[in-house]
Amino acid sequence: MTEFADRISAAYAAKGKALDLGRGVVAGATDPSAAVQPSAAMCNRHGLIAGGTGTGKTKTLQLMAEQLSAMDVSVFAADMKGDLPGIAEPGEHSERVDGRVGELGMTWEPAGRAVQFLALGGQGAGIPVRATISSFGPTLLAKVMDANETQSSSLSLVFRYADDHQLGLLDLADLRAVLQFLLSDDGRADLKGLGGLSSATAGVLLRKIVELEELGAEPFFGEPQLEVAALIGVHPDGAGLVSCLELPSVQDRPRLFSTFLLWLLAELFETLPEVGDLDQPKLVFFFDEAHLLFEGASKPFREQIAQTVRLIRSKGVGVFFITQLPDDVPDEILAQLGNRIQHALRASPRVTRRHSKPQSPPTPRRVTTTSKRISPSSAPARRW
Ligand SMILES: Nc1ncnc2c1ncn2[C@@H]1O[C@H](COP(=O)(O)OP(=O)(O)OP(=O)(O)O)[C@@H](O)[C@H]1O
Ligand SMILES: [Mg+2]
Repeated sequence: MTEFADRISAAYAAKGKALDLGRGVVAGATDPSAAVQPSAAMCNRHGLIAGGTGTGKTKTLQLMAEQLSAMDVSVFAADMKGDLPGIAEPGEHSERVDGRVGELGMTWEPAGRAVQFLALGGQGAGIPVRATISSFGPTLLAKVMDANETQSSSLSLVFRYADDHQLGLLDLADLRAVLQFLLSDDGRADLKGLGGLSSATAGVLLRKIVELEELGAEPFFGEPQLEVAALIGVHPDGAGLVSCLELPSVQDRPRLFSTFLLWLLAELFETLPEVGDLDQPKLVFFFDEAHLLFEGASKPFREQIAQTVRLIRSKGVGVFFITQLPDDVPDEILAQLGNRIQHALRASPRVTRRHSKPQSPPTPRRVTTTSKRISPSSAPARRW
C-alpha cells in the first residue's frame, strides 16, 4: 500500500458497512488501493453532490442509490430529467467499462434494481402523490404561489380561520371557497375580525389560486394523500426500496415540483419515529437539481428547510442535495451537510461573475454542529 492509500484508508476507516465511491488519484494516476469508502452510518449526516453540468453528479446519485439499496436502505430520488429509471436496467460489459473497473481494482457485475415509481398528481404510471391543502400548509403554498411576505402571512391567517371554524381544506377548491366567502357580503364581518387580512390581499390570493389551477396544479392537491410509509421498506427481492418520483416538464413548473419534494420531506419528518443514531439510515432522500428549491426562497422558507433537515437526521433519514455550485444551497443548510462530493466545477457565467467581484475579507461562516441534539419538543408544532 502506498502512503497515499494509507492516508485515504485511515480517513475513511469506520466500523460497519461502507459505500464504495471510487479510488484516489495521485499525480494523475489512479491508486487502486486508495479506496474512497464513506461509512453507511454517516449517510444520515446529509450531503452535497456538486459539480458542473455533465460531470457525473447524477451518476454518483445512481451509484449511491444502488449501493444503499443493496444494504437494505430505502432510497428516494426525484427524477427531473428522466435519468434515473436507468437504475432498473442492468448495465453492460464493454471494453471501456471493464478497462476502467480493472484500473480501479474493483469488481463489477451488471445488476438492475427494482424501482418503484411515483407519479405527481397521479399523472403517469406509478403510486399517485397528492397532498391535502391543510397538510401542505401555508408556508409551502405561499412558495408555490410566489407570494410576497404580506400575502404569505395573510394566507396563514386564512388557514387559521379555516382551522378555528373546522373547515377542512382538502383541495384548491376548498381554499378558494373560504376566500370567496370572506370576500362576500356574508363573510365581510369575519374578514374584518381576522385583522391583518385586507380584502385587497384576499383578492390577490384568490387570483393566485386560479393561476395555480390554470397551471394544472389541481390534481396535486386533495385526497387520498400519499402515505409516506410507502417509501420505506424492503423490496421482495431483498433490497431496500428505490422510489423514483418522475417530474416530467419540470422546467415549466419548477416551484410546484420542488415545493412538493419539501412537503414529502416534512411529511416524513412528522410521521417517522425518533430513532437516534443508527448503523445505517432507514432512508436516503436525494434532491437532484436542488437549486430549484432555493431560487427566490424567502428567509422563513429557508429556515424551515434548515430546521427539518437538522431534525430529520435523528429519524434515520439522510438528505443529499445535488446541484452545480455549492453556493446554490443557502449557508444555514450547507453547514449541516457532513458529506461532500465535489465534481469538477466548470466556469459557468455564475462562477465567473462571482470571481470577478472585488474580494472582501472572508466572513466567518455560521456553523451548526451536527452533534447538537434537539429534543422532539422543540420540533415545529405546526406544519410549515
Ligand atoms: N462515473 C461515470 N461513469 C460513467 N459515465 C459517466 C460517469 N460520469 C459521467 N459519465 C457520463 O457523463 C454523462 C453525464 O453525467 P451525469 O448525467 O451524471 O452529469 P450531471 O453532473 O448530472 O449533469 P447535469 O448537471 O447536466 O445534470 C453521463 O451520461 C455519462 O455518459
Ligand atoms: Mg444530473
